[in-house]
Amino acid sequence: MKIVVTGGAGFIGGNFVYYLLKNHAEDFVICYDKLTYAGNLETLEDALKNKNFKFVKGDISNRAEVYKLFEEEKPDVIVNFAAESHVDRSIEDPELFLRTNIIGTSILLDACKKFGIKRFHQVSTDEVYGDLPLDRPDLFFTEKTNLHTSSPYSASKASADLLVQAYSRTYQIPATISRCSNNYGPYHFPEKLIPLMIINALNEKKLPVYGKGINVRDWLYVEDHCSAIDLIIRNGKVGEIYNVGGHNEKTNIDVVKTILKILGKSEDLIEFVTDRKGHDQRYAIDPTKIETELGWTPKTKFDDGIKKTVDWYLKNKSWWEKIISGEYQNYYSKMYEHRL
Ligand code: NAD
Ligand code: DAU
Repeated sequence: MKIVVTGGAGFIGGNFVYYLLKNHAEDFVICYDKLTYAGNLETLEDALKNKNFKFVKGDISNRAEVYKLFEEEKPDVIVNFAAESHVDRSIEDPELFLRTNIIGTSILLDACKKFGIKRFHQVSTDEVYGDLPLDRPDLFFTEKTNLHTSSPYSASKASADLLVQAYSRTYQIPATISRCSNNYGPYHFPEKLIPLMIINALNEKKLPVYGKGINVRDWLYVEDHCSAIDLIIRNGKVGEIYNVGGHNEKTNIDVVKTILKILGKSEDLIEFVTDRKGHDQRYAIDPTKIETELGWTPKTKFDDGIKKTVDWYLKNKSWWEKIISGEYQNYYSKMYEHRL
C-alpha cells in the first residue's frame, strides 16, 4: 500500500512514520507536511534514509498542491495528522486553526472524492467531547458522547470530524476517525506540558503549572496511539469512530512532580501561574470499542513511558536545543510573561 501521512514531520505523525517503516516493510510511506513551526525534518532524519519513504513539502489547505500530490502519487491511504495542535495558541489566534484543521481537511476529502482512495483516516482528539467534572471519576468519554467543545482548537477538530462523516455518507468516502487522549513520548514539541517541563527542569527554569494543577489528562505513550491507528486503517470498519486511551489519568501537578523526581530536581522549581482560559477539567477515554472490536491493547504503562520519555530528552538534546533557541524564545515570553 502507498500511505500518505500528512503532518508526518510533527510529533505523532513522525512516530507513526517510524511505526509503519518498522512494522510494514511492504508499504511505501509518503510524509506530506507544510513544515510549520511544529514540523521538523530532523525528526525524519532516519526515515529519509529508508527506500520505502519519501518526503513531500506541502500544505493541506492548498488545493493545487494537494491535487498534485494525488495525481502524482495515487495514494491508497491517507492518514491525516496535519493540524495546528496547541490549545494555547488557538486561544491567542484562532484563524489559522480554522484554515488548517477545517478547510485543510475538507480539501483532502475533496481530493479523495476526485481521485479516489481506499481509506481516509482522520486523527482526531478526545477534546471534541469537551471535559468531564473532577468529582465524577465514574464518567468516561465513549464514541456516543456528545460533541461539546471548549477551545477554538477543539471546535476546529470537531468541525473536521463532522466533515469527514458528511463526506463519508454523501460521497461514500471510505473514512474512519480516531479520538485519542493526550500523547507523550519522543519528538514532542516543547510547547506541550510534558516536554516543556522536562526541558525547563533540565535548564533549572521555573515550571509554569496552570491554576492549581488539578486538571486531569489521560496519558497514552505515542507508540500505543500509532498501533491503534495502524489497526484501524487495516481492520477498522468504514464509517466508524474509535476512541483510543489507556486509563492513565493523572493530575498535571502529579505529572510535573513525577518528572522532577525522575530528574532528581527540587519541587521548588514549580510555579503556579494564571490558568488557561476555558481550561478543560478532566479527559478520560473509554477504549472498550477498539479493544473488543479490533483487539487493541496499549503496551506501555505511564510509569515506564514517562521514564523512557525523560531518557529520550536527555539523550537527544541536540533535537530540542535547536528548537528552544530562536523563535521559540519569543513564543515563550509571549505566552508566559502575562501569566506571572
Ligand atoms: P504537532 O503540532 O506536533 O504536528 C503537526 C504537524 O502538522 C507538523 O509537522 C506541522 O508542520 C504539520 N502541519 C501543520 N499545518 C499543516 C498544513 N496546513 N499542511 C500540512 N502540514 C501541516 O501535532 P501532534 O501533537 O503530532 O498532533 C497530530 C495530530 O494528532 C493532530 O491532528 C492532533 O489534533 C491530533 N492529536 C494529538 C494529540 C496529542 O496529545 N498531541 C492527541 C490526540 C490527537
Ligand atoms: O487530549 C488530546 C489533546 O492533548 C490534543 O488534542 C492536543 O493536540 C494536545 O496539545 C493536548 O492538549 P492539552 O491542552 O491537554 O495539552 P497541553 O500539553 O497543552 O496541556 C496539558 C495540561 O497541562 C493542560 O491541563 C494544561 C496544562 N499546562 C500546559 C502547559 C503547556 C500547564 O499547566 N502548564 C503549561 O505550561
